[in-house]
Amino acid sequence: MTAQGGFSRAFLTRFGSVARIRRLLPALPLVVGLLVLPGCGNSGEPVVNVYSHRHYDTDEALFQRFTEMTGIEVRVVSASADELIARLEREGEASPADVLITVDAGRLHRAKERGLLRSVSSRELESAVPEALRDPDGYWFGLTKRARIIAYARDRVNPDDVQTYGDLTDEQWAGRIVARSSENIYNVSHLASIIAANGPEVADAWVRGVVANFARAPQGNDTDQIRDVAAGVGDLALVNSYYVGRLLNGEDEAGRELARQVGLIFPNQGGRGTHINVSGAGVTRHAPNSANAIRLLEFLVSEEAQRAFAEGNFEYPVREGVQWAPTLAEWGDFRSDPLPLSRLGELNNEAVQIFDRAGWR
Ligand SMILES: [Fe+2]
Repeated sequence: MTAQGGFSRAFLTRFGSVARIRRLLPALPLVVGLLVLPGCGNSGEPVVNVYSHRHYDTDEALFQRFTEMTGIEVRVVSASADELIARLEREGEASPADVLITVDAGRLHRAKERGLLRSVSSRELESAVPEALRDPDGYWFGLTKRARIIAYARDRVNPDDVQTYGDLTDEQWAGRIVARSSENIYNVSHLASIIAANGPEVADAWVRGVVANFARAPQGNDTDQIRDVAAGVGDLALVNSYYVGRLLNGEDEAGRELARQVGLIFPNQGGRGTHINVSGAGVTRHAPNSANAIRLLEFLVSEEAQRAFAEGNFEYPVREGVQWAPTLAEWGDFRSDPLPLSRLGELNNEAVQIFDRAGWR
């Protein structure tokens, strides 16, 4: 769009010369207000394109609500996080994406490092999302929170015996821990938090201690770890809290039964707190509708949206004072590690090296 004297072509077509516009100036705030609605991105189209790893009915309902409120249509492309990141890289400047929604601060940091996101300044986002749960430069914002908890077999483990992540290295757990691969970002980010809190030597020793207690070689996803604890393959596993919430509330009766056999420990309550992470979003570097993208993010951290958005995946809202889903309320409040999550991405490489060196495959 070309501009004359700072006014867009559309504006000039409508109101004539710059001189005429100057005569109209007292009325300008109203006129500009009308032109800005319903969604003035750079493209001017009332649309926002979202690349999301999430595919929950609650998200669909929320996006519809956003459209009702703003007139901005939300178009969603769903795929795995790695696919979406690869797609953004491939599309480059031509990408139609305005927003990337994905999980884990480590992965959001990766998207930032690869130049796929842009810095956003929004008082709304900055006041709703606690500082530790967003990028310090505004490249991404946490939208929901998850805890890395210890799932244990209720009939074989006394939870008093395993109150910290460090306790997992105790020899009483030899042959009793199941885990997923160290290539998984949840494990990488968790180890990054141990490096941040205790340094690389302690992190190295921790990995060796846990590996020595493995019941089997790492395999599967978090749900598989819960299944294997319930089935007696092992007695303890590190998993993200929402996997237990999902199973407990799922359609599948067998899954609900499995989850009931497993107890949850929120580790490190006497110390730095339980390791937490987020699913979050950023505005893409080449967003054609960046103003709409920011409005969508601001909507997703509003009180109205936070509860539903978090509940869609049995996660915790990032915004203070928003009600938790009943299952999470039953589990109770807990102390979270206050570490700024941007550190997890920064320590990602070091964590990967320690996993390799210490033999967690
Ligand atoms: Fe997950």
